Amino acid sequence: MLVREGEFVMGDDTLPDAAPAHSVTLPAYYIDRLEVTNRGYLEYCAHTGHPTPAPPSWEAGYAQQEDYPVVNVSRDDAAGFCRFAGKRLPSEEEWEKAARGSGEPVLLWGNWTLAGLAKQAPSWFPKGSGPEAGVKTAAKAEIWTDAAGFAAAASKLADETAKLQQVAAGGDIEAMRAQARAVGGACNTCHDKYRTAPEPK
Ligand code: HEC
Repeated sequence: MLVREGEFVMGDDTLPDAAPAHSVTLPAYYIDRLEVTNRGYLEYCAHTGHPTPAPPSWEAGYAQQEDYPVVNVSRDDAAGFCRFAGKRLPSEEEWEKAARGSGEPVLLWGNWTLAGLAKQAPSWFPKGSGPEAGVKTAAKAEIWTDAAGFAAAASKLADETAKLQQVAAGGDIEAMRAQARAVGGACNTCHDKYRTAPEPK
């Protein structure tokens, strides 16, 4: 996709590693919208004799999942793949500008709780991120046709998790059990309506 020429704010004053936030101006450039898949990377290895990546420790069959993003590649591996594909790696500035879009920090660390994340969920499915754009996703079209309903389901989860937090502070284990079930119910309500059932493994 094309990222237009212009200014953006790079960095984040609230994170020592990323401070200070500062303005950067870049010329226009193109960047892939999705990660390089196992399929794409293994094609590169097959054509060039480049060694295939070691499987990750967390999932034995990972490399057989063709649509998963490739992992365990070094910067040199990645640069080699890009040359093969007639592309190049983005600079740090280019990556950050593409990832954060207009204004919002890349990750809202302050909201790194279930209730905080639930509120953000509607923004994770922007227009053009559904199956019609070639993205493999379990998200149903209703997320986009019924955005208000999806936002309400996310807000319901945020409410139930906030309640769980309160109940947990009270220390009543039975009340916590009941509230944990209410949280699970809020997960299921949204999944039933907005997510296709996962394929059995
Ligand atoms: C507002 C709607 C909504 C709520 C609330 C919600 N989810 Fe989801 N969830 C989704 C959608 C949509 C997907 C499919 C995303 C995709 O495939 O791109 C998903 C996917 C998932 C997945 C599969 C991820 C994967 O990589 O395959 C898990 C696990 C999951 N949700 C767990 C939960 C849990 C646990 C909760 C409650 C604490 C929850 N979800 C609440 C909408 C929701």
